[in-house]
Amino acid sequence: SIAFHQNTKNTPMFPSAQEVTIDLGERGYRIVIGGGLLGNAASYNGLPRASTALIVSNTTVATVYASALRAALAGRFAQIHEVRLPDGEIYKNWQTLNLIFDALLQHGCDRKTVLFALGGGVIGDMTGFAAASYMRGVPFVQVPTTLLAQVDSSVGGKTAINHPLGKNMIGAFYQPQLVVCDLATLDTLPKRELSAGLAEVIKYGPIADMDFMGWLEDHMDDLLARDRTALAHAVRRSCEIKAWVVGQDEREAGLRAILNFGHTFGHAIEAGMGYGAWLHGEGVGAGMVMAAELSRRLGLVDEAFVARLKVLVQRAGLPLRGAVLDAADNAGRYLELMRVDKKAEAGEIRFVLIDGPGRACVRAAPDALVREVIDACCAG
Ligand code: NAD
Ligand code: GLY
Repeated sequence: SIAFHQNTKNTPMFPSAQEVTIDLGERGYRIVIGGGLLGNAASYNGLPRASTALIVSNTTVATVYASALRAALAGRFAQIHEVRLPDGEIYKNWQTLNLIFDALLQHGCDRKTVLFALGGGVIGDMTGFAAASYMRGVPFVQVPTTLLAQVDSSVGGKTAINHPLGKNMIGAFYQPQLVVCDLATLDTLPKRELSAGLAEVIKYGPIADMDFMGWLEDHMDDLLARDRTALAHAVRRSCEIKAWVVGQDEREAGLRAILNFGHTFGHAIEAGMGYGAWLHGEGVGAGMVMAAELSRRLGLVDEAFVARLKVLVQRAGLPLRGAVLDAADNAGRYLELMRVDKKAEAGEIRFVLIDGPGRACVRAAPDALVREVIDACCAG
């Protein structure tokens, strides 16, 4: 069930709405960021004309937010249908995806139908994939309601479901028409989920913007207290950096891979522990520390940089140490899981490493060194 969290800093108002543009030519779109946007009809101006909308959400989020979205869309669509999926990373699979197709077909949705992804990254990724493949592609809108989704997953057009053997292994690049980030939805986000979202915020510092890392060091307490001005800045700056990266490399020919800082180790933790045991952001938190430590052992950054990152990860309420997986050879199990990472080439794992503060590179590392890092960085 959903609870509202006291905004302890109690900034009464959200800063006025802001916009970030994703520059991808005819696939370009706007990300609007502000308080109270979800239930405001004007937030959805500029969408293609259609008679039908399908709101895709889950049983947790829909209870609180679906009626406001429905009301905001009422003047724009003659018919608004809704499908509520089970809640959780373990449901990010074929079976659940099929519930979206069932709803689309049962309601006779045509190829102009607009899908609305109302929820966190799990809903966004699945709705995007459904939109990419229903009738070979229908428009969709992201209405992200977690910090993680507002700063990362709703932006950039990566859509996917998990496979038991690997995370996000089946999917498509498919851009939304619009992203509506309503900061007020973060008032009901559980604390653990807020921290998970902060992992994806933190990552933008080491890979691209050390000024932002400094800002995060100054404002981590404000973010944890859900200060509205601080949240607005964190979401906007994260979206700007992501838009800049995706604008140059939409389909991850190279540069975009830097957004996966911490994810190679993190995905191994998520898959190795069973999806849902560790939150995605928690895996990324510990994974960034492991990737930074690997960078240090390769001589790319110094000890002081790793220490600085660790403090930030810890202050965000994220795990500093990786999980010990259920296997006789923990490091071997990590390596096995990391070999199915999408960045791997010919079975060789490629890591996003910090190549000096504010700069990332993607490269392989000797197994023996990776083993040392895993042994040094895992709990137990
Ligand atoms: P999530 O979607 O599971 O949401 C986390 C939890 O918060 C869920 O239980 C959800 O029901 C609940 N929730 C959502 N909004 C809420 C609100 N406003 N108030 C209260 N509860 C709310 O998890 P997530 O962290 O948002 O997303 C993680 C997923 O995103 C992973 O599957 C990951 O692979 C994916 N991801 C994708 C990309 C991408 O580029 N496509 C990037 C990063 C992560
Ligand atoms: N989350 C990584 C990416 O969008 O590329």
